[in-house]
Amino acid sequence: MQSPSSSFTVRHANSRDVGHLSDILTESFYRHSDRPVNFLMRGFTNLVYPILRYGIMLDLNSRFGEQTPCYACLVATHPANKFQAIASLEICMRYVPVHASRGFWLGRDMQQHPYIFNLAVHPHWRRRGAAKQLLLAAEKTVKQWGFSRLYMHVLEDNEGARYLYDHLGYRLHDQEGYLNYWFLGFPRRFLLQKKF
Ligand SMILES: CC(C)(COP(=O)(O)OP(=O)(O)OC[C@H]1O[C@@H](n2cnc3c(N)ncnc32)[C@H](O)[C@@H]1OP(=O)(O)O)[C@@H](O)C(=O)NCCC(=O)NCCS
Repeated sequence: MQSPSSSFTVRHANSRDVGHLSDILTESFYRHSDRPVNFLMRGFTNLVYPILRYGIMLDLNSRFGEQTPCYACLVATHPANKFQAIASLEICMRYVPVHASRGFWLGRDMQQHPYIFNLAVHPHWRRRGAAKQLLLAAEKTVKQWGFSRLYMHVLEDNEGARYLYDHLGYRLHDQEGYLNYWFLGFPRRFLLQKKF
């Protein structure tokens, strides 16, 4: 899965990647998120960082150990060190609402579709096309499985990620998290869809 336009190589992850992937995910989602984080939260995160990382490592090990159909973890590496993953994403099957709506999910028709989660690029390797290349490889994988739609969630205040997904043709399918948005001021979750 090598693209001539980029220096990254995308491949399927294996158990030797778990340590690096845990670092990337912990760094990306708890320390170097593109979303605004207040200093109290940052201090707390630094304190519990080893526990967060360990939890992520256990989750990854358990997913890698299960032989789940239509599950994949893709990693990107750079020729400078082809054994060290610098970015990753996972794909699984997940129930999503069939019809777009602004309402609640309860009582709505749901169907299983391929779903991307845990897309993260190590902070030192951002804005070099790694995420774009992983997403294109994910689309290829899903097509090989015989599907023609791909879904993912993004928080409304994650502007970098939203820009990236929009750029690659992912469109708003549904919105969630209204109660937390109205009562606690938390960002909504947008469910995005791409058809190919
Ligand atoms: C969001 C994220 C995955 C993007 O990874 P990346 O490798 O830097 O993205 P790419 O280099 O492939 O970006 C491709 C294009 O997307 C857009 N883009 C990506 N990040 C952006 C940002 N922070 N701000 C604005 N546009 C951005 C740009 O158009 C970019 O092209 P350009 O660099 O030529 O302008 C990365 O910032 C990250 O890991 N963030 C923390 C974890 C996260 O939020 N994951 C997504 C969860 S939904």
